[in-house]
Amino acid sequence: MERILVIGCSGQIGSELVLELRKTYGNDNVFATDIKDPPEEIRETGPFQILDVLDYKNLLHFLVRHNITQVYNLAAVLSGNAEKIPLQAWDINMRALMNTLQAAQQSSAKKLFWPSSIAVFGPTTPRHNTPQLTVMEPNTVYGISKLAGERWGEYFFNKYGVDFRSVRYPGLISYKTEPGGGTTDYAVEIFFEAIKNNSYECFLSENTALPMMFMDDAIKNTIKLMDADPDTLSLRSSYNMAGMSFTPKQIADEIRKHHPDFSITYKPDFRQAIADSWPASIDDSVARKDWGLFDEFDIEKLSSTMLFKIEERIT
Ligand code: SER
Repeated sequence: MERILVIGCSGQIGSELVLELRKTYGNDNVFATDIKDPPEEIRETGPFQILDVLDYKNLLHFLVRHNITQVYNLAAVLSGNAEKIPLQAWDINMRALMNTLQAAQQSSAKKLFWPSSIAVFGPTTPRHNTPQLTVMEPNTVYGISKLAGERWGEYFFNKYGVDFRSVRYPGLISYKTEPGGGTTDYAVEIFFEAIKNNSYECFLSENTALPMMFMDDAIKNTIKLMDADPDTLSLRSSYNMAGMSFTPKQIADEIRKHHPDFSITYKPDFRQAIADSWPASIDDSVARKDWGLFDEFDIEKLSSTMLFKIEERIT
């Protein structure tokens, strides 16, 4: 029987992942933890506890006490926020990972999911249809920490048999919990502002293309990777995950199909340089072949779902 720990359950990914895992593995077998309070639904459907992943002893104790077999470690400072506190962000992101790797090695929680990101690529990487294996010279703190993390994950797999699994998430778009401090956050904010104010001031320029994915697809694929037969996994660093690619202008045009008066202005800030260093589109054929990565949402389905769900929530 699997017993699962999710670290970072109050964040954008965690808040949806926990609920999905509970449907499959049973409410009581999915332990949600964070350093901040979770959404109500998480508290109501199963165990929640405050747990700081930076506290190694407590983490190890938790894994042993609850007989945990799988860990999803989603705790991280995102790209935009990390640039404001570079050393602290490096320390938090790396220590959070190293603690879970070590705790996995020393307990029976051998299976570990850790998210990497399109931020592992940099300005010298081919920008279009970025291959799985390519030049990687990230120039953001977040990207450097994600690339280092992938290397450490693979190292712990080879050296200590930790069952490390990871994907390089594109920007993730959801309506339940908003992201905090990322470069792709505009693609979530724009929908909320469209419903609330019928206008949006975008912090990226109109033709900045980035890879994005709807949260439902991201969650289903994450669980699929974790369920995959280990023999099918040719990679133990992190798999490219493409989703769809679009620009702020394209998403605004899509919103206008539903709200013809929606207006957008552009005022790029420091996150423009981050976006410019990332791929515009990604080749994820290795993940499709190895474990069946798929996606169901294109830009149209994504936009209509986001607008409908946010409207429903607000009214
Ligand atoms: N969405 C993340 C960010 O913008 C990228 O992984 O920081």
